[in-house]
Amino acid sequence: MKKTQYLFILLIAFYSCNCEKTNTEISVIPKPLSIEVTNSSFKLNKNTTIVFQNGNEGFETVALYLQDEIKKSHKLELKITRSDNQPSKNTILLLQDLKSEFGKEDYSLVSTKKSVNISSSAPNGAFYGVQTLLQLIDINKVDGKIEFSHIIPGVRIHDSPRFNWRGMHLDVCRHYNDKEFVKKYIDLIAMHKMNTFHWHLTEDQGWRIEIKKYPKLTEIGSVRSETMIEKNWDEFDGVPHGGFFTQEDIKEIVQYASDRFITIVPEIEMPGHSLAALAAYPEYGCTGGPYEVEKTWGVFDDVYCAGNNNTFEFLEDILAEVIELFPGEYIHVGGDECPKEEWKKCPKCQKRIKEEGLKDEFELQSYFIHRIEKFLIANNKKLIGWDEILEGGLAPEASVMSWRGTEGGIKAAKMGHDVVMSPNNECYFDHYQGEPENEPFAIGGHTDLSEVYNYEPIPSELNAEEAKHILGAQANLWTEYISSPEHLEYMVLPRMSALSEVVWTEPQVKNLDDFKSSLQKLVLRFEFKNYNYRPL
Ligand code: ACM
Ligand code: ZN
Repeated sequence: MKKTQYLFILLIAFYSCNCEKTNTEISVIPKPLSIEVTNSSFKLNKNTTIVFQNGNEGFETVALYLQDEIKKSHKLELKITRSDNQPSKNTILLLQDLKSEFGKEDYSLVSTKKSVNISSSAPNGAFYGVQTLLQLIDINKVDGKIEFSHIIPGVRIHDSPRFNWRGMHLDVCRHYNDKEFVKKYIDLIAMHKMNTFHWHLTEDQGWRIEIKKYPKLTEIGSVRSETMIEKNWDEFDGVPHGGFFTQEDIKEIVQYASDRFITIVPEIEMPGHSLAALAAYPEYGCTGGPYEVEKTWGVFDDVYCAGNNNTFEFLEDILAEVIELFPGEYIHVGGDECPKEEWKKCPKCQKRIKEEGLKDEFELQSYFIHRIEKFLIANNKKLIGWDEILEGGLAPEASVMSWRGTEGGIKAAKMGHDVVMSPNNECYFDHYQGEPENEPFAIGGHTDLSEVYNYEPIPSELNAEEAKHILGAQANLWTEYISSPEHLEYMVLPRMSALSEVVWTEPQVKNLDDFKSSLQKLVLRFEFKNYNYRPL
């Protein structure tokens, strides 16, 4: 059934059923498209079996995930069986339904006394059905201890995400977080039915990905000698800060994400924000250095030399290794905050401007991104960059991530380019989420839970055709002032829960009060999984 038909049925249901009951009994975030509560409920016990159909490995991954979650919450080791015959009783069935008009991420969930049936056309939908199933299980805190019910209330749910790009970003460069933490962050993305992890891997203050051809990138570029002290620009802590992900780590994380139906978009910054790389290989900067891995925060004049062909060879070698590691269709190349000061003074850059007939340094930046895009397209990848890549002319097939408000996104969509919305007012989770005097020190700004919840990713300036270019939205987490996992979790939770409804739930179904009420249960799940969230 098409989403519009479901919305119609939903409206009828709204006028014909006792919806208050639905809202108060069912606490699922992001809120599903339609929920009908019935009076037949399922009881989970040690004999409950998870069944998936023969011959479908993706569904087995989902079955294993569910088994593991139930083991953690209920200490029950559910059996998994593979069968084409639908067993009759006490089963959780993962059914592949190729006859209905299910999109890849859609699912339906029907729970009765006999079974819980999750139907979808692909394992992605089954995985989201499992996320819903887990949240249907009531959770309470009794005498300081988290307890899970064994009852899955009787429901008929049909669900379908609004956007294809439902993302979270993480900067592991300003402050490094290790492999285990990255997995814990990916678990959060999965729990919220999001599907994209934008992994910011290179910066002025640290290079965090092993590149075999250029070992100095991590030998030198992954460590800064010390870090400026919070709030105080000329005082330093005297403590080296470093860390990086080996290619083996990355393969493990990519697999971990893929098992949760999450695509990783790696970001390799260029031409700016690259001092750590230049500290290791100064020959690719305009002056030749020396440079050092940056110890303070901000935007720095030393960037890659756009006049030197060897710079492009260096970056293409790096990207070739990155492409091998990340199977997703997109590579993010940054492109933001690239000062033009050195390019103005550099004979090689000026020669390039003349030879290529470029108007100015903005067009030189555009030349840079075009050239890299050609390489990516030749390697079957798509380029995405921050909205500065519009300046001086957008590369022919590039997608744009709109962060300096929405204008960049609007302009790119009107030009027929795909866009991911991440405007700083609503989607920067490094901002304060309350009064600064009551919050840990932050970079500034103010983005509270309701602001995130009420964000609408489709700008009103776009017509229906242009709006199709809005792939979705994501929140960004820059870590200049976030140096511990606990603080990081505090910054994303529960704002990420609000964002999950922005990107998943149809606006007709969203409701801030329902969301806040459901959040009371979701935070208990955070607590059970040892996440530090900002108290409600
Ligand atoms: C950015 O926040 N500089 C993309
Ligand atoms: Zn130069």
